[in-house]
Amino acid sequence: MANPWTLGPGGGATAEHARFPARALTRIPPMARKTVLDLQAMKAGNQKIAMVTAYDYTMARLVDAAGVDMVLVGDSLGMVVQGQPDTLSVTVDDMVYHGRCVARGLAEAHLTVDMPFMSYQVSAAQALTNGGRLIKETGCQSVKLEGGARSALAIQALVEAGIPVVGHIGLTPQSVHQLGGFKVQGRGEAAAEQLVRDAAAVQEAGAFCLVLEMVPAELAAEISAQLDIPTIGIGAGAGCDGQVLVCNDLLGLDARFHPRFVKRFAELQNPVIDAVRHYVDEVRQGAFPADEHSFHRARGPHRVARLY
Ligand code: KIV
Repeated sequence: MANPWTLGPGGGATAEHARFPARALTRIPPMARKTVLDLQAMKAGNQKIAMVTAYDYTMARLVDAAGVDMVLVGDSLGMVVQGQPDTLSVTVDDMVYHGRCVARGLAEAHLTVDMPFMSYQVSAAQALTNGGRLIKETGCQSVKLEGGARSALAIQALVEAGIPVVGHIGLTPQSVHQLGGFKVQGRGEAAAEQLVRDAAAVQEAGAFCLVLEMVPAELAAEISAQLDIPTIGIGAGAGCDGQVLVCNDLLGLDARFHPRFVKRFAELQNPVIDAVRHYVDEVRQGAFPADEHSFHRARGPHRVARLY
């Protein structure tokens, strides 16, 4: 199937925008969030795409305010939110719940929600049912699923139904048991060639974007140069068209987890612990709440104070 997201002669993405000037339709609220066409145009214009995960409304507001281009409600929530050892037990209901929370916090960033393990592998019909649910019930604009050639039928079915798809190859955490752990993929010649074929299969099936996780930087750069659709790397070097990190990792919320590919842009674990410890001390000493945090009875006839 020809990929509808690849730029044809004349630069499809911007031409489509010119034909459908959404903001001119005054009676329909404009969609301010970045679309698949905006992201395609970023690759065409050599602009790097910044993507980050989020799992709730508060973090969604913060990362949106910081100007990220794409937000992923990753099934990594199984590990960072639910405390599981891997992503395998995450359900479609979990993704719907967190996807909805994040959607409410985003004004500008494009929202992608992960399809969890065994929600698309059984058949194209199963992928459609679950991908459709994510789109209808969360307000996301695209879904992400793992696998190269083996996931081509699911990708194609979703795209034909009008659901944009982000592919994901390299280290695919849903296959952790088959891969023997969370390891770099595509190091040997044969494995590298397989990844190049998988990347082409994902684009050919109609995905508009591709995540490359933990692959050698040279290989990721080669794949990025070969594809028309943007690649988003995590542990895949600087040659990708964009980067993604788990928000908890980039904020340094868990000091125990510091793999090589994560750069911590803040160290928030200890400031959070210190702030809560301070609160605990003040509660125990009776220093909190102070008078300014308290309500008082009105003078005259008793009235119930307004809370907010
Ligand atoms: O689940 C996730 O957060 C992901 C990213 C790490 C790409 O798939």
